[in-house]
Amino acid sequence: MKRILTFGTYDLLHVGHVRLLKRAAALGDKLIVGVSSDELNISKKGRAPVYSTAERLEIVRSLSCVDEAFIEHSLEAKGDYIREHKADVLVMGDDWAGRFDMFGNLCEVVYLTRTEGISTTYLISSISEGSRTAVGGA
Ligand code: CTP
Repeated sequence: MKRILTFGTYDLLHVGHVRLLKRAAALGDKLIVGVSSDELNISKKGRAPVYSTAERLEIVRSLSCVDEAFIEHSLEAKGDYIREHKADVLVMGDDWAGRFDMFGNLCEVVYLTRTEGISTTYLISSISEGSRTAVGGA
């Protein structure tokens, strides 16, 4: 049983999130996702997510490729989460390439390529500008 662990906010779930999670799940037998708390996002990104922690957790848990999800309360606790969830592989998007190599003594660390042209930040700004439409979208 190979256990895969990944982290993220997963606010306004989009195709970049789903592709990353599917590819992460395909690396092993069980996918566990740490969903960052509202407080963590406020400190990390300077804004509260559109969807609450409980809503984001419920959405991520409902995905068929996700076996378990929990709330990530601290960015500094990645090592503890890896041990607690007995992860064999830590998966991160390649926007974090190299930044989690220090956990290589606890598990394998894999960086997956992000999907081009989509992000929650982009969605929020394009929706508020009124420029986002399905036609020609990602
Ligand atoms: N991700 C991805 N491709 C994208 C956007 C996100 O593969 N286009 C991945 C990230 O690399 C991460 C996971 O999805 O592993 C969750 O990312 P998250 O930060 O929640 O999403 P973003 O859309 O990047 O959010 P934001 O714009 O708020 O930073």
